[in-house]
Amino acid sequence: MIGAIDHIGIAVRSIDEALPFYRDLGLELVEIEEVPQEKVRVAMLACGDSRLELLEPTADDSPVARFLDKRGPGIHHVCLRSDDVDVDDARLRTAGHRLLRDAPTPGAGGSRVQFIHPKSAGGVLFELAQPG
Ligand code: CO
Repeated sequence: MIGAIDHIGIAVRSIDEALPFYRDLGLELVEIEEVPQEKVRVAMLACGDSRLELLEPTADDSPVARFLDKRGPGIHHVCLRSDDVDVDDARLRTAGHRLLRDAPTPGAGGSRVQFIHPKSAGGVLFELAQPG
């Protein structure tokens, strides 16, 4: 089942260069973590009950690097919290929606994640995350 907005993913060229703005906003940096599977470095900022996730590519062939090349910095994805990402994956697949991965994979903070293809979601990249 899908619950709250877990976080909004924002593509940045450099976390270090982006952070001062978020500090000025008054958001607290929770942690910085590298997610090798995604070829990104991730900075999680607390934002009330939700979070903002800054995504910095760690390789030229990172999906986030390709996003930055095409569209520049900005909102990359919306992440919805799932209490069982396998069940949600199966339900969406059965309904004929396109998912980016064959099955949920490890995400930031020990979570398990799947992505819905923007072509199945009105141009929005949705991440589904089951907290670790
Ligand atoms: Co995310």
